[in-house]
Formats: sequence, structure tokens, C-alpha cells
Amino acid sequence: MVAHRGYRAKYPENTKVAFENAINIGAKMIELDVSLTKDRQVVVIHDDTLERTTNGKGAINCFTLAELKKLDAGSWYDPQFKGERIPTLEEVLDLVKDRTLMNIELKEIYYEEQDSTDTIENQVINLVRKKGMEQAVIISSFEIKYLERLCKKDNLPAMAFISRKPADASVVEACKKLELFSWHPWYEILTQEQVDMMHDAGIKVFSFTVNSKDTFLKLCKMGVDGVFTDDIPLIR
Ligand code: G3P
Ligand code: MG
Repeated sequence: MVAHRGYRAKYPENTKVAFENAINIGAKMIELDVSLTKDRQVVVIHDDTLERTTNGKGAINCFTLAELKKLDAGSWYDPQFKGERIPTLEEVLDLVKDRTLMNIELKEIYYEEQDSTDTIENQVINLVRKKGMEQAVIISSFEIKYLERLCKKDNLPAMAFISRKPADASVVEACKKLELFSWHPWYEILTQEQVDMMHDAGIKVFSFTVNSKDTFLKLCKMGVDGVFTDDIPLIR
């Protein structure tokens, strides 16, 4: 079971309090989404804009880290979480290290055609290496170009392709070629055939985002290797 954006059923998503509580209730892995600020710092937030989960307005990449740190990322969820901040990836790596596994999702819009040391994916890899967490992390994205570029590098963490579309033989081949650890499909499009195809190719299947017992049981019957959920106790 992977805690999607932390313990999102009870805490403001992608914040330290959501991750701390996901770990405390025994999540085997936590998932988070990373974005790039105007001054090219890696921060943890799902949307491309601030409105839904903070008291700010506008695109994340129009603000520096110092500006984003002034925002409240907790009150929108409940006043008791007032003062919760948008965390940096480094802060969350420090919080998680040696406690549980972690899935870092690279959001599509930050992909840059030009490879450089400060692209979001290179910064993420370097931070994971700096913390010595290569064996505890899966890097994933809906944008396969990140994975195509990353797979050429050495000493990588595990990698995964996320999809809202069903996989055919060509997707399985692409996952195999990139030596991906896992495929992360939306549960609505998942079939037994796709699970079997991925497993035959040696690729694990983790499905998102599962918040009902019936869906969970259906996926278990298909033999998925894991699920993302907002509500670890419900699925447990
Ligand atoms: O990685 C699984 C899931 O997090 C993908 O969707 O939109 O919740 O990031 P989203
Ligand atoms: Mg995500």
C-alpha cells in the first residue's frame, strides 16, 4: 500500500504532517509529486498552480522558493493545519529516510527538451543520491521522456511509467526496453490481460488511486503488486 500524497484522507496532501502520519500508521511507501520553482528548487506539490492547496495564486514556477515558503499549505484543508508549508523535496527525503519507501512523481509540465544539471529529474536523482536513498525510491512519471533520458544514467533508483491509458504490447516493450521496475495504471482502465502482460515481462503493477474496498478486492484478484490509496487504514 502506497500512501498517495501522504495520508491524504486525514491531512493536507503533500505536506510534512501528511507524510509523518502516513509513516506512523505504517505506510509501506509514500507517494509525492514534485514541481520546479522560479529559482529552480524542487518542491512537493501536486498542482501546477497554488489555488487549490495553498492561500497563494498563480503558477508554481512564477514564484521563488522563499516566496512559496510564506504560503499556508494547511488551512485550505482544515484550520488546525494552519502554518503547514509547501515542503522541499530535500525536507521530505530527510523526514522519510530509513523509515519507509518513497515514490517521487515528476510532473509532466516541468519536462525540458534541453538536458542540464538543474532539470527537475537531474536534481531529484542528485538529491536521492546525496541522501543515500537509491534503494528506497521509485521515480515515476506520466511523461515517458523523463524515463527515456534517465535510463541512460548509472546508479539509478527504480523507475516507473504512470498511465491513464490501457497498455498494449508496444507499451510493455517500451517498459522492458527502459528496464522499468513497475507500471502504474489508473485502476479504471486496468484489466487482467494487462496485469498478466506486464508480469510476463517482469514488470510490477501498482494501481492508483484506490479508495474503496470493492476496487481493492477486484485489483487483488487480478494480482496487482500494490495500490496507491489516500486512506491506508480503510484499505488495510
Ligand atoms: O502516481 C500515481 C498518482 O499519483 C498519479 O496521479 O494526479 O494523483 O499525481 P496524480
Ligand atoms: Mg502523484
